[in-house]
Amino acid sequence: MIGETLQLGLAGLGTVGSGVYETLCRNRELLEARAQISYAIRKVAVGNLARKRDVQIAPELLTDNWHELVDDPDIDIIIELIGGTDEAYRLVKAALMAGKPVVTGNKAVLAVYGSELFKLSAEMNVPLYFEASCGGGIPIIQSLQNSLICNKVQSIAGIINGTSNYILTSMKEQGLPLSEALSNAQKLGFAEADPSFDINGWDAAHKALILAMLAYGTPLSPDKIHVHGIEKVESVDISMAEKLGYTIKLLVVIKHHEADKALELRVQPSFVPQQHLLASVNGVFNAIAVKGDIVGETIFYGRGAGKNPTSSAVIGDVVLAMRECRLNGYHTGFLPYTKELAVLPMGETVTPYYVRFDIHDRPGMIAAIASMFAKYDVSISATSSNFGYVDEDGVQHNHLVFMVHACKWVRLKYVLRELRENHVIDRLPVVFRIETFND
Ligand code: HSE
Repeated sequence: MIGETLQLGLAGLGTVGSGVYETLCRNRELLEARAQISYAIRKVAVGNLARKRDVQIAPELLTDNWHELVDDPDIDIIIELIGGTDEAYRLVKAALMAGKPVVTGNKAVLAVYGSELFKLSAEMNVPLYFEASCGGGIPIIQSLQNSLICNKVQSIAGIINGTSNYILTSMKEQGLPLSEALSNAQKLGFAEADPSFDINGWDAAHKALILAMLAYGTPLSPDKIHVHGIEKVESVDISMAEKLGYTIKLLVVIKHHEADKALELRVQPSFVPQQHLLASVNGVFNAIAVKGDIVGETIFYGRGAGKNPTSSAVIGDVVLAMRECRLNGYHTGFLPYTKELAVLPMGETVTPYYVRFDIHDRPGMIAAIASMFAKYDVSISATSSNFGYVDEDGVQHNHLVFMVHACKWVRLKYVLRELRENHVIDRLPVVFRIETFND
């Protein structure tokens, strides 16, 4: 073994925290043999000392005050798994200020306070590791930081929320309603403590901000990203997508527009062509496609949520932190290296679209809508009309679908706004982007 036993302080003993604790205990021999460094868990901070836990842990290790970890001169490394934003921020900041390397799996704290914490980490020369913040067990952070370091990243597209992917898969394959699929995901330990972040797209958005900061070396904040969740995905669109050769996925898209010196940053449920690898990523699995100028296309796949996959990522960082504790003053923590990049306005982003109107079945509807598309130079690639339902007043509604060629979002927005203002339609249609992955 190299040097003295390193002392770890673990904050948080929830789903991931208990997985980390158990694996650090169970696989100690293997980890120590591989790292050639011995370690001990010196203290574990929890929110509530009285809570009954599944994990077997000596009561004298527990404290309900994380300051005891940060203030303990014998603790070398802090593992932050308390979740949430503000308290976690205070903890990570205090640990970095105290000169203790931090391993965190907390995407929310990095999305909101990352720019400040990365700067502090650089100023203090104390590393902050965050592999578990994105993609659960997938080693995407290390890959972007190290293996792909020579690449200009052209784009990142991926499925990075396990819960929403599990829900969309259950809706498609078992016809489950969203609420039932969510409650299954919660039972399996995939969902966030507040699952609204899984459903409204913000968990994926937090991870996307981290990936974008890392890939482009730029500070970013949550106001820069455009976010839509899966809450409005209906079974009619899931089956229409299937008939048209697509699968609906909550997709993160990060693209560098070199000519505009701007980033495209968005999270939206989108149509993915069935022949694309991302379309076959099901259940809790995540996949992240990274395109670099040197490497070309790569795709990273694995379990994106859950106790063990996420613990695997946390412990990878703990071992990295332990190794770097043995290197005098050198570490691989992340430091933003460019000025804040501009973000492309959503109106300027270009994709094909699926647009589904719910219309009263009466003469001239298709013609009226199609002529508005023509007015704004939005080109239709296909249409279909199906019987929808008869409402309580006996009026027949049809699903009228237009597939449109790639255009700026702002043009399609004008079409829809004018249709609504002219009372051609009584409600706005359902719109999904179609990702082609060919730029
Ligand atoms: N709730 C998250 C997910 C957990 O479903 O992906 C991993 O961050």
